[in-house]
Amino acid sequence: MTSKVRSVSSLYGGFWNFDVQDFCYMTNRYFPPKGFLEALGANLARLVGSYPSTNKHLSGLVADPLGLTSAQVVVGNGASECLSAVTNLRVEHMAIPIPAFDEYRNRAATQGKRVSPYVMAPDFDLDVDGFIKHVEDCGANSVVIVRPNNPAGTLVTRDETIQMFKAFVGLDLVIVDESFLYFAGVDYQTMSVMDQIHAFPNLMVVNSMSKAFGVPGLRLGYAVSGDAAFVERLRAELPIWSINSMAQFFLESLDEYGDGFTDACVQVTEATQALYQGLQTVPFIEPLPTRGNYILCRTTTELTGAEVSARLFDEYKVLINDCSGKQGLDSRYFRIAAKTAEENDALVRILLAMANGTPAGDEAGQSVRA
Ligand SMILES: Cc1ncc(COP(=O)(O)O)c(C=O)c1O
Repeated sequence: MTSKVRSVSSLYGGFWNFDVQDFCYMTNRYFPPKGFLEALGANLARLVGSYPSTNKHLSGLVADPLGLTSAQVVVGNGASECLSAVTNLRVEHMAIPIPAFDEYRNRAATQGKRVSPYVMAPDFDLDVDGFIKHVEDCGANSVVIVRPNNPAGTLVTRDETIQMFKAFVGLDLVIVDESFLYFAGVDYQTMSVMDQIHAFPNLMVVNSMSKAFGVPGLRLGYAVSGDAAFVERLRAELPIWSINSMAQFFLESLDEYGDGFTDACVQVTEATQALYQGLQTVPFIEPLPTRGNYILCRTTTELTGAEVSARLFDEYKVLINDCSGKQGLDSRYFRIAAKTAEENDALVRILLAMANGTPAGDEAGQSVRA
């Protein structure tokens, strides 16, 4: 029997239509708070029946808590909308360390831009000098640095990132994607390079609110730059109403419900690190250390990542991310997104059951849905 996992995964979302636990997408399961969801529910009819405000106004709502102005921020329908507009405007030839979030390379390639990947060694720690040399050698006009890296979970330090900015001052564009930095530690703000937009006008910091704030269905992300003219050009590139009214309501509610955000991120980080420990007890898996809310794993047997993902889906109704087709990785790899501590524990029990050849329907299989 052929597994349905590929066709379900290829939908890239809408997984609520399937009887499956989503350990594929990396969103904060401890945010937003119940109070926000109740307020959203109570206002749903009004919001569905109303137009949202302009991008500039919404960008101001994002900019305020960051200590920035709307002249420095463009909010998008997810970070993916921002990155697509950015690559379209400024990328001619992109250099990017791989493995990486493939959408950067895919989008640039779809837009007819050249891409020069830089293959990282299997510990996936970026060799900064090696990457700088790669950029010089290939003649790229732009680079993308994802910190922490998705799917590897490695984090290039702030100092090393600034070292790269100095080497890349002559480039048209340096994109730093910090979508998962919130999970790297409670001091994520001091690890960020967002303050560097004032020193490096070619720097654009991209961030996905979808993941960190646990609202992937609302679709929110933003791009930040110190080059006000470029920010305006980018804004002009986006449709007039790309952010929906529910997402606007979320931004407007952050004042009231945002207090628990940092605590929620800490809970995610703790749950992820506990999951990492749990995965270390599963005989056929080598989990790699992570600074994100997901764990890249490789098999230590002849099993492939594709086989692990198909068996989890077919036998235990669990969806993970098969990374065996990802550039920069081989057939052993798969990625698990952390959910709540309880859900993660149940997944570890399932993986142990799988290792022991225990069938679905036992206690482990049921408790992941608890
Ligand atoms: C590094 C990175 N940036 C951006 C995105 C896209 O985020 P959004 O859902 O806000 O479009 C993703 C999605 O997985 C990602 O991994």
